[in-house]
Amino acid sequence: MVAARIVKQTQGTMVHPNQSPAVMAGQGTIAVEVLKQVPTVDALVVPVGGGGMISGIAITIKALRPEVKVYAAEPQNADDCFQSKLKGELTPNPSLPNTIADGVKSSIGPYTWPIIRDLVDEVFTVTEDEIKNATQLVWERMKLLIEPTAAVGVAAVLSEQFQKVVPAVQDVCVVLSGGNVDLTSLRWLKQPECEEAQLPLN
Ligand SMILES: Cc1ncc(COP(=O)(O)O)c(C=O)c1O
Repeated sequence: MVAARIVKQTQGTMVHPNQSPAVMAGQGTIAVEVLKQVPTVDALVVPVGGGGMISGIAITIKALRPEVKVYAAEPQNADDCFQSKLKGELTPNPSLPNTIADGVKSSIGPYTWPIIRDLVDEVFTVTEDEIKNATQLVWERMKLLIEPTAAVGVAAVLSEQFQKVVPAVQDVCVVLSGGNVDLTSLRWLKQPECEEAQLPLN
Protein backbone atom coordinates (compact mmCIF):
# COMPACT_ATOMS: atom_id res chain seq x y z
CA MET A 1 0.00 0.00 0.00
CA VAL A 2 1.46 3.35 -1.09
CA ALA A 3 0.26 5.21 2.03
CA ALA A 4 1.89 2.66 4.34
CA ARG A 5 5.17 2.96 2.43
CA ILE A 6 5.18 6.75 2.65
CA VAL A 7 4.31 6.68 6.37
CA LYS A 8 7.29 4.37 6.89
CA GLN A 9 9.66 6.42 4.75
CA THR A 10 8.70 9.77 6.28
CA GLN A 11 7.81 8.54 9.78
CA GLY A 12 4.54 10.33 9.23
CA THR A 13 1.13 9.69 10.71
CA MET A 14 -1.54 7.88 8.73
CA VAL A 15 -4.81 9.80 8.74
CA HIS A 16 -7.46 7.51 7.29
CA PRO A 17 -9.73 9.46 4.92
CA ASN A 18 -12.98 7.99 6.24
CA GLN A 19 -12.47 5.70 9.27
CA SER A 20 -10.73 8.33 11.42
CA PRO A 21 -13.02 9.76 14.14
CA ALA A 22 -11.32 13.17 13.79
CA VAL A 23 -12.03 13.22 10.04
CA MET A 24 -15.66 12.27 10.70
CA ALA A 25 -15.98 14.98 13.34
CA GLY A 26 -14.55 17.58 10.97
CA GLN A 27 -17.17 16.71 8.40
CA GLY A 28 -19.87 17.10 11.04
CA THR A 29 -19.35 20.85 10.64
CA ILE A 30 -21.11 20.55 7.27
CA ALA A 31 -24.29 19.76 9.20
CA VAL A 32 -23.76 22.68 11.61
CA GLU A 33 -23.49 25.03 8.63
CA VAL A 34 -26.61 23.61 7.00
CA LEU A 35 -28.68 23.93 10.19
CA LYS A 36 -27.54 27.53 10.61
CA GLN A 37 -28.19 28.51 7.02
CA VAL A 38 -31.42 26.55 6.46
CA PRO A 39 -33.23 26.05 9.78
CA THR A 40 -36.25 24.68 7.89
CA VAL A 41 -34.27 21.80 6.36
CA ASP A 42 -36.11 18.43 6.43
CA ALA A 43 -33.39 16.18 5.03
CA LEU A 44 -29.76 16.03 3.96
CA VAL A 45 -28.61 13.79 1.11
CA VAL A 46 -24.95 12.74 1.23
CA PRO A 47 -22.84 10.69 -1.20
CA VAL A 48 -21.25 7.72 0.58
CA GLY A 49 -17.89 6.06 -0.08
CA GLY A 50 -16.12 5.05 3.12
CA GLY A 51 -18.90 6.78 5.02
CA GLY A 52 -16.82 9.30 6.98
CA MET A 53 -18.70 12.31 5.70
CA ILE A 54 -22.17 10.94 6.31
CA SER A 55 -21.13 9.64 9.76
CA GLY A 56 -20.03 13.09 10.91
CA ILE A 57 -23.15 14.66 9.44
CA ALA A 58 -25.51 12.03 10.90
CA ILE A 59 -24.03 12.27 14.42
CA THR A 60 -24.39 16.07 14.34
CA ILE A 61 -27.90 16.13 12.89
CA LYS A 62 -29.30 13.45 15.18
CA ALA A 63 -27.78 15.22 18.22
CA LEU A 64 -29.13 18.66 17.34
CA ARG A 65 -32.27 18.03 15.25
CA PRO A 66 -33.17 14.31 15.38
CA GLU A 67 -36.31 14.79 13.29
CA VAL A 68 -34.20 15.86 10.27
CA LYS A 69 -33.60 12.92 7.93
CA VAL A 70 -30.14 11.85 6.79
CA TYR A 71 -30.15 9.98 3.50
CA ALA A 72 -27.20 8.22 1.88
CA ALA A 73 -26.71 8.24 -1.90
CA GLU A 74 -24.66 5.60 -3.70
CA PRO A 75 -23.98 4.38 -7.23
CA GLN A 76 -25.75 1.06 -7.89
CA ASN A 77 -22.33 -0.19 -8.98
CA ALA A 78 -20.85 0.55 -5.53
CA ASP A 79 -23.78 -0.20 -3.26
CA ASP A 80 -22.04 -1.61 -0.18
CA CYS A 81 -23.82 0.83 2.14
CA PHE A 82 -27.21 -0.19 0.71
CA GLN A 83 -26.31 -3.89 0.98
CA SER A 84 -25.03 -3.46 4.54
CA LYS A 85 -28.27 -1.79 5.66
CA LEU A 86 -30.31 -4.45 3.87
CA LYS A 87 -28.45 -7.35 5.46
CA GLY A 88 -27.88 -5.69 8.84
CA GLU A 89 -24.16 -6.37 8.68
CA LEU A 90 -21.09 -4.73 7.19
CA THR A 91 -21.00 -5.89 3.55
CA PRO A 92 -18.11 -4.32 1.62
CA ASN A 93 -18.06 -4.13 -2.18
CA PRO A 94 -16.77 -7.54 -3.38
CA SER A 95 -14.28 -5.90 -5.78
CA LEU A 96 -13.24 -2.41 -6.87
CA PRO A 97 -16.46 -0.96 -8.27
CA ASN A 98 -16.75 0.37 -11.79
CA THR A 99 -18.41 3.77 -11.50
CA ILE A 100 -17.86 7.26 -12.85
CA ALA A 101 -18.31 8.47 -9.25
CA ASP A 102 -14.72 7.63 -8.37
CA GLY A 103 -14.82 9.37 -4.97
CA VAL A 104 -17.20 6.72 -3.64
CA LYS A 105 -15.54 3.53 -4.87
CA SER A 106 -14.36 2.80 -1.34
CA SER A 107 -16.50 0.73 1.03
CA ILE A 108 -17.82 1.73 4.42
CA GLY A 109 -15.74 0.28 7.25
CA PRO A 110 -15.75 -0.87 10.86
CA TYR A 111 -15.87 2.67 12.30
CA THR A 112 -18.50 4.11 9.99
CA TRP A 113 -20.80 1.06 9.70
CA PRO A 114 -22.29 1.22 13.24
CA ILE A 115 -22.98 4.95 12.84
CA ILE A 116 -24.60 4.45 9.44
CA ARG A 117 -26.55 1.45 10.74
CA ASP A 118 -28.01 3.43 13.63
CA LEU A 119 -28.32 7.00 12.34
CA VAL A 120 -28.80 6.99 8.56
CA ASP A 121 -32.48 6.85 7.68
CA GLU A 122 -32.30 5.36 4.19
CA VAL A 123 -29.94 4.63 1.30
CA PHE A 124 -30.81 5.58 -2.29
CA THR A 125 -28.90 4.02 -5.18
CA VAL A 126 -28.56 5.47 -8.67
CA THR A 127 -27.41 4.26 -12.08
CA GLU A 128 -24.40 5.52 -14.01
CA ASP A 129 -26.70 7.31 -16.47
CA GLU A 130 -28.52 9.03 -13.63
CA ILE A 131 -25.17 10.24 -12.23
CA LYS A 132 -24.05 11.55 -15.62
CA ASN A 133 -27.36 13.33 -16.26
CA ALA A 134 -27.31 14.91 -12.79
CA THR A 135 -23.71 16.10 -13.28
CA GLN A 136 -24.58 17.69 -16.60
CA LEU A 137 -27.72 19.28 -15.14
CA VAL A 138 -25.78 20.95 -12.33
CA TRP A 139 -23.09 22.21 -14.71
CA GLU A 140 -25.61 23.61 -17.15
CA ARG A 141 -28.28 24.97 -14.83
CA MET A 142 -26.40 25.83 -11.63
CA LYS A 143 -23.07 26.69 -13.31
CA LEU A 144 -21.19 24.70 -10.69
CA LEU A 145 -18.28 22.48 -11.72
CA ILE A 146 -19.10 19.55 -9.47
CA GLU A 147 -17.54 16.13 -10.01
CA PRO A 148 -19.76 13.11 -10.79
CA THR A 149 -19.38 11.85 -7.20
CA ALA A 150 -21.03 15.03 -5.95
CA ALA A 151 -23.89 14.48 -8.40
CA VAL A 152 -24.79 11.13 -6.85
CA GLY A 153 -26.93 12.95 -4.26
CA VAL A 154 -28.58 15.09 -6.94
CA ALA A 155 -29.37 11.96 -8.94
CA ALA A 156 -30.87 10.33 -5.83
CA VAL A 157 -33.21 13.27 -5.23
CA LEU A 158 -34.29 13.28 -8.88
CA SER A 159 -34.93 9.53 -8.89
CA GLU A 160 -38.40 8.03 -8.89
CA GLN A 161 -37.46 6.14 -5.73
CA PHE A 162 -37.05 9.43 -3.84
CA GLN A 163 -40.68 10.32 -4.46
CA LYS A 164 -41.71 7.96 -1.67
CA VAL A 165 -40.27 10.35 0.96
CA VAL A 166 -41.94 13.37 -0.66
CA PRO A 167 -44.02 15.36 0.45
CA ALA A 168 -43.08 14.49 4.06
CA VAL A 169 -39.65 15.79 3.12
CA GLN A 170 -39.80 19.21 1.44
CA ASP A 171 -36.63 21.21 2.12
CA VAL A 172 -33.81 18.97 1.00
CA CYS A 173 -30.11 19.82 1.20
CA VAL A 174 -27.91 17.87 -1.19
CA VAL A 175 -24.25 17.95 -0.21
CA LEU A 176 -22.27 18.81 -3.37
CA SER A 177 -19.17 17.21 -1.99
CA GLY A 178 -16.43 17.91 -4.51
CA GLY A 179 -15.25 19.44 -7.78
CA ASN A 180 -12.26 17.39 -8.88
CA VAL A 181 -13.23 17.02 -12.51
CA ASP A 182 -10.84 15.52 -15.03
CA LEU A 183 -11.78 17.69 -17.99
CA THR A 184 -9.98 15.36 -20.39
CA SER A 185 -12.41 12.56 -19.53
CA LEU A 186 -15.54 14.23 -20.85
CA ARG A 187 -16.18 11.89 -23.77
CA TRP A 188 -19.16 10.54 -21.84
CA LEU A 189 -21.11 13.78 -22.29
CA LYS A 190 -24.15 13.38 -24.50
CA GLN A 191 -23.31 14.48 -28.04
CA PRO A 192 -25.62 17.04 -29.69
CA GLU A 193 -28.21 15.33 -31.91
CA CYS A 194 -28.58 18.22 -34.36
CA GLU A 195 -26.31 17.78 -37.43
CA GLU A 196 -25.49 21.48 -37.57
CA ALA A 197 -24.15 21.36 -34.04
CA GLN A 198 -21.67 18.68 -35.10
CA LEU A 199 -20.02 20.85 -37.79
CA PRO A 200 -16.36 21.66 -37.12
CA LEU A 201 -15.94 25.04 -35.46
CA ASN A 202 -13.45 26.61 -37.97
C1 LIG B 1 -16.22 14.21 -3.84
C2 LIG B 1 -16.45 13.21 -2.77
N1 LIG B 1 -17.69 13.07 -2.28
C3 LIG B 1 -17.96 12.17 -1.33
C4 LIG B 1 -16.98 11.36 -0.81
C5 LIG B 1 -17.37 10.33 0.21
O1 LIG B 1 -16.81 10.53 1.43
P1 LIG B 1 -16.69 9.28 2.39
O2 LIG B 1 -15.62 8.39 1.83
O3 LIG B 1 -16.32 9.89 3.69
O4 LIG B 1 -18.02 8.62 2.42
C6 LIG B 1 -15.66 11.47 -1.28
C7 LIG B 1 -14.58 10.64 -0.74
O5 LIG B 1 -13.43 10.76 -1.07
C8 LIG B 1 -15.39 12.41 -2.29
O6 LIG B 1 -14.17 12.53 -2.84
